[in-house]
Amino acid sequence: MKRADQGKKGAAPEAPALAPEIRPGQSVALLQELHILTRDGKLNQDSRRKLKQVYHLYQFIEPLLREIQQDHADISLVDHGAGKSYLGFILYDLFFKGRGDGSRIYGIETREELVQKSTELAKKLDFPGMSFLNLSVAESTESTQLPKRIDIVTALHACNTATDDAIDFALKKRARFMVLVPCCQAEVASVLKKNKGKDLGKSALTEIWRHPLHTREFGSQITNVLRCLQLEAHGYQVNVTELVGWEHSMKNELIIASYKNLPRKRPSERLQEVLVTLGLEEMGQRFYTGKLAEADAMAPH
Ligand SMILES: C[S@@+](CC[C@H](N)C(=O)[O-])C[C@H]1O[C@@H](n2cnc3c(N)ncnc32)[C@H](O)[C@@H]1O
Repeated sequence: MKRADQGKKGAAPEAPALAPEIRPGQSVALLQELHILTRDGKLNQDSRRKLKQVYHLYQFIEPLLREIQQDHADISLVDHGAGKSYLGFILYDLFFKGRGDGSRIYGIETREELVQKSTELAKKLDFPGMSFLNLSVAESTESTQLPKRIDIVTALHACNTATDDAIDFALKKRARFMVLVPCCQAEVASVLKKNKGKDLGKSALTEIWRHPLHTREFGSQITNVLRCLQLEAHGYQVNVTELVGWEHSMKNELIIASYKNLPRKRPSERLQEVLVTLGLEEMGQRFYTGKLAEADAMAPH
């Protein structure tokens, strides 16, 4: 399919026809740099799927950005464990490009070479509202290179406990929204494994994590359950859904948290109860909750 301004008689040499999936105004140079488009504007089956997945994720993030915009124009978004900053670049291209306000996307990444590459690419594409910082997620929480107000935090397959650090970052920054697609987390599974000897036999339910494979899978699932309870225990509304068709089929859980100042008492109590029931009390610091009584006294019921 050709665009209306392509293929006219007497016009300048034709640009190659773009695949119909490419949205008007989308940067072809960016899609080529990300290897979604070939040099002649073609999409292969793999990149068609990749683009569909990115659009699917964007469909969840765009309404959150619009909601923030209703409050203030300049949005601060931090993407943790950014990798090649694939998500940040696409978000910038689809939503932030050319707005001329103070909005900024920050990519946080421990691999220096990726930070350097993304910085160079942002310069090449003339995306001035993007910054990349060579920091760990935990370090970024205290970094003066980030502004005080962060509106939205994303973490897409940030390895192991980096998702938990991203949650800690967002809680400390009082971010309005979090969009998290966790990677596998080994910490909870290792505590389940360590305590197996003393916990097995306490209840028939310990059968759920008796076999090593089950320990890993259950550990991974219960980690996300604890994360959701922790977010609720800080007043967030939490939605858990599936990132349909995502290539990492085992890691396609999408957690969206929106700050609503909801009552914290019940989710905090539930979180403690789950930790005690599963012999995970030592994880209480990781999945910390706030000062319950004070918080609930302030929150409308
Ligand atoms: C699986 S990749 C995902 C990259 C990107 N978010 C995506 O979905 O394409 C995870 C990235 O997180 C980075 N990473 C892991 N732990 C981190 C930490 N604690 N702080 C910052 N970056 C981290 C890794 O270097 C890697 O680039």
